[in-house]
Amino acid sequence: MTESSLRRVLQQCVSLLMVVRLQGEVTAPEKLEAPVELPFTLSCALARERPGDTVRQVRWLDVQNQTLLTYQPGQGDSVSGQQHVELAAAPKDTSSITIRRVGFRDEGCYTCIFDLLPSGSDQGLTCLSVTSRITPDANQTAVSGKRAVLSCSYGLPEKVQQVVWSHTSGQGESRDVASYARRSDPMIEPPYQGRVWLSASLSHSQLTIQPVAIPDEGCYTCLYHTHLEGPRSSTVCLATYVLPKPQVSYKTTSPGVVEANCSCVSRPPAEIVWNVERDNRTMGPPVTTQLPHRDGTTLVISTLTVRAGLLKDVSIKCLVHHRGLESAIAVSMNTKIGTALAILISVTTVAALLVMSLCFCLWKCFLHKEGEDV
Ligand SMILES: *[C@@H]1O[C@H](CO)[C@@H](O)[C@H](O)[C@H]1NC(C)=O
Ligand SMILES: *[C@@H]1O[C@H](CO)[C@@H](O)[C@H](O)[C@H]1NC(C)=O
Ligand SMILES: *[C@@H]1O[C@H](CO)[C@@H](O)[C@H](O)[C@H]1NC(C)=O
Ligand SMILES: *[C@@H]1O[C@H](CO)[C@@H](O)[C@H](O)[C@H]1NC(C)=O
Repeated sequence: MTESSLRRVLQQCVSLLMVVRLQGEVTAPEKLEAPVELPFTLSCALARERPGDTVRQVRWLDVQNQTLLTYQPGQGDSVSGQQHVELAAAPKDTSSITIRRVGFRDEGCYTCIFDLLPSGSDQGLTCLSVTSRITPDANQTAVSGKRAVLSCSYGLPEKVQQVVWSHTSGQGESRDVASYARRSDPMIEPPYQGRVWLSASLSHSQLTIQPVAIPDEGCYTCLYHTHLEGPRSSTVCLATYVLPKPQVSYKTTSPGVVEANCSCVSRPPAEIVWNVERDNRTMGPPVTTQLPHRDGTTLVISTLTVRAGLLKDVSIKCLVHHRGLESAIAVSMNTKIGTALAILISVTTVAALLVMSLCFCLWKCFLHKEGEDV
């Protein structure tokens, strides 16, 4: 082996040793993801080589190479630095700091420097990328003709260029509804103009539909186009209700037998039950039929057959239950209530007539008097 080649090998050994030394002194995770708006802890560890070294001071530099925090290990009162970070508990020869609430500006690379005596200082680098999840609303229901508001929130609006809302119907057809890009007006696709609005916000995107129609049912996806992180999306589903307006009709089908129908159109189909005060004069259980309509609603008819005498004696009610109603709608087919109503109406009419004739009398007397005076 020649002298020069030996020298080369030696040089390589030395440089290799140096790399090992440089890399081995301070270790820190190269890349970390920190969720926005939460505390996050960064750590560096010193892999001490020489037993003679002592750590005199630890310094942390922020993404702009400004001092973030410094302290002398073992001396609690030596900590100084910026308000938004604090020293975290860490084992010996490890340094940890906590960013109290991670924000968009905290993204970047942090340097931790261990000042050692007597051998100088060693440093490590750890890079933070700030992330956010999209928080969608819970699934929604809206009453046909009323308003529906769907929303998505994203914690890092600074990273977002555009948010696009699309609708996927129950049949799987998907189409864009509206979009909003930074420094522009929200854009509504032509088929939705006039009944859909989008908020001019990237952090809290809100899609309003009014009036809601049955075809608006389905799932809505908010798609965030972001720098670096690529597209992010989330989905919220909307169900449209049509509330029932029940009606009761009845007719005598054969002598002494009355057939009563309680019917309503709704979406989803309503459930109809009959409330007949304890009595055994109904002729079998009610018969329910469902007729789906093309517009997505369903006509439900419940037919109850009773003996005619029953109508005079007890209260018969049809109760309509529907998911969109807080409590069931009761429709009475009771003739007793009819009689009561008739009595009420006649009493009111008689009273009104009395008051009117009284007024008429007074007016007559007054006019008469006035006539005398002139
Ligand atoms: C911080 O310092 C490092 C070298 O120590 C340099 O590479 C980096 O560009 C600096 N960053 C800023 C924001 O000045
Ligand atoms: C919302 O509804 C969709 C479909 O109806 C369902 O797949 C999804 O799990 C629901 N999400 C929540 C949070 O309930
Ligand atoms: C009740 O509904 C049925 C259809 O389901 C109809 O044939 C019948 O005439 C209706 N009866 C009354 C009293 O409206
Ligand atoms: C109905 O109940 C009454 C007593 O509550 C009984 O006398 C009558 O026989 C019953 N009628 C039928 C048809 O079951």
